[in-house]
Amino acid sequence: TPRIFSGIQPSGGLTLGNYLGALQRFVSLQDSGIETIYCLVDLHALTTWQDPDKLRLQTREAAAAFMAAGVDPVRSILFNQSQVSAHAELSWLLSCVARVGWMDRMTQFKDKGGKDRERVSLGLYAYPALMAADILAYHATAVPVGDDQKQHLELTRDIAAKFNHDYDVDFFPITEPLIEGVATRVMSLRDGSKKMSKSDPSDASRINLTDDADAISKKIRKARTDAEPLPGSMDGLKDRPEARNLVNIYAALSEETPDQVLTRFEGKGFGDFKPALADLAVSVVSPITGRMNDFMADPAEIDRVLGDGADRADAIARPILDQTKDIVGLIRSR
Ligand code: TYM
Repeated sequence: TPRIFSGIQPSGGLTLGNYLGALQRFVSLQDSGIETIYCLVDLHALTTWQDPDKLRLQTREAAAAFMAAGVDPVRSILFNQSQVSAHAELSWLLSCVARVGWMDRMTQFKDKGGKDRERVSLGLYAYPALMAADILAYHATAVPVGDDQKQHLELTRDIAAKFNHDYDVDFFPITEPLIEGVATRVMSLRDGSKKMSKSDPSDASRINLTDDADAISKKIRKARTDAEPLPGSMDGLKDRPEARNLVNIYAALSEETPDQVLTRFEGKGFGDFKPALADLAVSVVSPITGRMNDFMADPAEIDRVLGDGADRADAIARPILDQTKDIVGLIRSR
């Protein structure tokens, strides 16, 4: 049976990139009737040091963002990773299947670890094995993510295949990545060659889901662009990454194709386009921010939702972990 799993790190406030590349799609998949499991991966966030109070706050805020965006914690399972111990346990078992050489090739590790490989946490290095455990603990068949997670999902497939081969079983599914739509890679507002990221030191580079209307408008007005008018189709934006990014953001927000957007703005400059984009972004983001604030007013209720989600997640993951233990030869007695 098909089953969707995806996760977001609560290592900072969520951005418009997370919304368009992930959250918005989580909502439409939930509405497709397939079983959907969404996880705030707090253990992954710990791979770089987090202030404990901030981590708690950001985890609740991320949960509020999911619900504000339209993830229904009754129809979907919404929980934080650390409450379901199967993730950490399966991660160990998969770490013993994955190869060091595979981890060495992960570009995200190279980017985040930088040159100072000696000093990053062991957890950051093993990060993809935990991510594989997240997915495989549910026998998830499809994983909706942005483009930056592609390599991690390929590794998950490699780990599943090697496990099945090493133990001569047909146990873990080979998961399909779902990387679809125009917003799989929303770029920074300051630099069209970098992705929009919650960890970028420049706040002007991103729109946060907690930004108010003024902040959103200002950031879009100040977004880097060129001085050319807009062409009638995306073919004309090949060498204009900043312009392309803004048009893609517009299209994702209005749920149109970029070419449909350009048909309306052909020949217009950014003096016309940016205010229209700002209005559109505010009309989509502000209601979400408002609902997030409502949810954040009752943190105990958020914790209750996460606890309930964790119970339901555990009921799926526990038997799969138990079977994994049996397959590899670990004794279980109850
Ligand atoms: P994270 O927390 O960096 O991002 C969460 C999701 O948002 C997407 N995303 C973007 N999409 C488009 N444009 C952007 N600028 C942008 N920035 C982020 C990401 O692709 C992702 O889908 N390793 C994962 C978390 C994770 C996970 C998992 C995901 C842990 N376990 C299991 C799927 C399945 C991460 O760091 O995502």
